Amino acid sequence: MRISHLTSADTEAVISLWHQAGLTRPWNPPERDLQRALDGDTSTVFGGFVDERLVGTVMVGEDGHRGWIYYLAVDESQRGTGLGRQLMTVAEDWLRQRGAVKVQLMVRSANEAVLGFYDHLGYEDADVQVRSKWLV
Ligand SMILES: CC(C)(COP(=O)(O)OP(=O)(O)OC[C@H]1O[C@@H](n2cnc3c(N)ncnc32)[C@H](O)[C@@H]1OP(=O)(O)O)[C@@H](O)C(=O)NCCC(=O)NCCS
Repeated sequence: MRISHLTSADTEAVISLWHQAGLTRPWNPPERDLQRALDGDTSTVFGGFVDERLVGTVMVGEDGHRGWIYYLAVDESQRGTGLGRQLMTVAEDWLRQRGAVKVQLMVRSANEAVLGFYDHLGYEDADVQVRSKWLV
């Protein structure tokens, strides 16, 4: 498995994977999220490839204070093979190299299945509520 930075040329494969992994929502165009992360100076998106096919993604960025991880996804056919862990390690290393000392992520309340995965990788319940507001 090869992990590398993604580019706009990967958009179709990325969006397809995100749909399959249940990470997209109708009100949040995934193409826009991807392009903003690819264009930004403080963010990137990594992809995992098996036989040159995109089978995993992780989006990572830092806001000057903390690092954030988004859009972790592994193709259903490749789950349980260690790819999710590898993608998380690459994202964490990217943040460390930029001086970040803490990383956090958000899990949708309905996505309980993934909590065990994050627990296993050392991500603790931060015991905070996240509030959000649309700016557009
Ligand atoms: C979450 C996800 C990325 C995990 O990917 P994966 O490639 O199957 O995970 P890995 O094979 O790398 O698993 C890493 C470790 O976590 C463990 N693990 C995986 N899922 C687990 C779970 N639900 N509960 C407990 N442990 C789990 C594995 O046993 C493995 O342990 P080990 O490395 O000590 O042997 C994948 O299930 C996925 O794409 N889910 C749908 C998208 C999603 O919900 N993303 C998160 C959004 S917040």
